[in-house]
Amino acid sequence: MDLLLATRNPNKTREFRELLGQAFGVIDLSSFPEIATPEEAGRTSEENAILKAIAASKQLPSLVIADDSGLEVDALGGAPGVFSARYAGENAGDVSNVDKLLRELRKQNIATEKRSARFRCVIALAQNGKLLGVFEGFVEGKIVDPPRGSAGFGYDPIFEPKGFDQTFAEITPESKNKISHRGQAIAALRKALREIEN
Ligand code: IMP
Repeated sequence: MDLLLATRNPNKTREFRELLGQAFGVIDLSSFPEIATPEEAGRTSEENAILKAIAASKQLPSLVIADDSGLEVDALGGAPGVFSARYAGENAGDVSNVDKLLRELRKQNIATEKRSARFRCVIALAQNGKLLGVFEGFVEGKIVDPPRGSAGFGYDPIFEPKGFDQTFAEITPESKNKISHRGQAIAALRKALREIEN
């Protein structure tokens, strides 16, 4: 089954391909430079995932999936949340976003045991401008300082999942995929896609 992933983030595309396996052909918006992506104006990940999936599905005939994900740090009132990709500014990169998050925690003197956090992922599935489903996954953990590891992307070097003493950037992609927010949301998505196929 062929799917269009409404993203230009190559790391997300890689994880979707790893997680969905060979039964699914995943292409992303890097193959369609002419397709505009909407402003992520939603207040929640669900709203943003739906916005992205519906917008792309109005412009291309394929089944479209869109992922909106982010990190919620309890001591920061759930920030960066939906602003995870642009926490340190509109075109901020991963390093600046991580730096800003650690600066905030240090500034507020948040103790190590109070640095609980979770990654959340919401995936919307759409076709021809119509929403077909929404799938969610999350993983609990804590923020570590300084960052550790070089695998993964985004906030992986500062996120240690519950039950592990390594960060997402220190474990293999296979181990991350087994427990990650995206892994869980994709498991639910895969089930729905099988039903559509039959
Ligand atoms: P968006 O879903 O494109 O709005 O961006 C989500 C942002 O959250 C990414 O740019 C990353 O900074 C962060 N993020 C989402 N998932 C992960 C992950 O699996 N590891 C690390 N950072 C992530």
